[in-house]
Amino acid sequence: GAGGAPAGDLTGLRVVVSAGGTREPIDPVRFIGNRSSGRQGVALAAAAARRGARVTLVAANVEQAVLAPGAAADVVPVGTTAELADAVHTAAASADVVVMAAAVADFRPALTPDAKIKKVPGRPPAPIELVENPDILAGLARDRRRDGQTVVGFAAETGDDDGDVLTHGRAKARRKGADLLVVNAVGERLGFGAATNEVTVLDAAGDVVAHASGSKDAVADAVWDAVAKLRSS
Ligand code: CTP
Ligand code: CA
Repeated sequence: GAGGAPAGDLTGLRVVVSAGGTREPIDPVRFIGNRSSGRQGVALAAAAARRGARVTLVAANVEQAVLAPGAAADVVPVGTTAELADAVHTAAASADVVVMAAAVADFRPALTPDAKIKKVPGRPPAPIELVENPDILAGLARDRRRDGQTVVGFAAETGDDDGDVLTHGRAKARRKGADLLVVNAVGERLGFGAATNEVTVLDAAGDVVAHASGSKDAVADAVWDAVAKLRSS
């Protein structure tokens, strides 16, 4: 494979990859969503299949054209975070590795009216109350669905007044309890929607175990290299 990955090194493994971005309905015609294309998750699923794994791809709102490269995976399409959680939990019950590459909505509207919200000209709209979604990754890391299961998270970070990308990534790695956290810097021209990517892979203690940059396929192979190394250690 790419980057010198041995062709069948994931043979016999069952893996689950979530991809895309969840959408939370505001009313029957509107939603709160995010800019994730699903490309990195699809590349992860395709790379795992290429390396011999049996792959379930839980695809949240991923366009058909983006899904095509992951054709060797069983695809479970989902929309909301609750649907994604259900599908991931079901697939994780028999999985050796779970990779949460999806951009999961942190909040959802508390109420979803059955009818479209109408505007009243000249009057400001009612605020939309939000409630927090469950943290699927933290839950998977805490309650392992299977002995020896490897749980991998992703984190898209920007630097801010509280610290740089890696500082935020380290704190998140320790907080989530996943075995690996793949951190990438997002911002203009980076991450979401981009053809190339640059990532740092951290372990559960927040220590750097790998760096990778290049195409989303190259990053995907680097992530599976890190998973394979961790599982053989
Ligand atoms: N994630 C999840 N469930 C959520 C939110 C996030 O499983 N409700 C997963 C994502 O799939 C990703 C990882 O957690 O693998 C990190 O997501 P991220 O949005 O970076 O982390 P948060 O904990 O939501 O922190 P914040 O958005 O405040 O940076
Ligand atoms: Ca989040």
